[in-house]
Amino acid sequence: MTRKIGLIVGSLRKESWNRKVAEKVKAMFPEGYEAEFIEIGDLPLYNEDYEKEKNEPESYGRFRKEVEEKDGYIFFTPEYNRLCAPAIKNAIDVASRPYGKSKWGTRPAAVVSASVGSSGGMAANFSLRQNLIFVDLIPLQQPEVYLASVHELFDKEGALIKDTEDFLQGFVDAFVNHVDRF
Ligand code: FNR
Repeated sequence: MTRKIGLIVGSLRKESWNRKVAEKVKAMFPEGYEAEFIEIGDLPLYNEDYEKEKNEPESYGRFRKEVEEKDGYIFFTPEYNRLCAPAIKNAIDVASRPYGKSKWGTRPAAVVSASVGSSGGMAANFSLRQNLIFVDLIPLQQPEVYLASVHELFDKEGALIKDTEDFLQGFVDAFVNHVDRF
């Protein structure tokens, strides 16, 4: 049985470092695993009136379906003013509704944060983990992944430098073990 992993990137910009990291992680999964992006850039800010007035955006349905189909998730977040990307928070909220029909459930998850700054988005990473716990996702505890000065972790051809590649492969291996426990 193939295990499906959803990759969710919080930065919406084309040249996002977080997306570049996510693309590398996507390629590191072993046989039997299928990692796919779940896009969140087209989700309007959650508004409960959509539900009440039965005019929810189509993208909400598309997103909830993709979330439901996955066996686990990795979130890639930049840090914006010491919190995780608001696009991720919005996506979490969208799939947590309607009340009592959350699409997240008790499933494995992990958080990667990447920043051009020196803290590697640690504060964003912490805040996001806390949010995941509330929607009943089970975040991988170790290794923690904070990628500081992320722009220096790729070479001119766009490949990861060796240390970072090895570190991220170790992270993917640990995540796969985490998923296999479910
Ligand atoms: C930032 N950035 C940032 N970096 C950080 O380490 N801590 C922070 O609190 C913030 N705050 C912040 C706020 C806002 C509004 C922006 C736009 C940026 C810098 C951020 O890490 C940098 O732009 C990354 O390159 C964003 O990730 P992507 O888009 O490259 O994936």
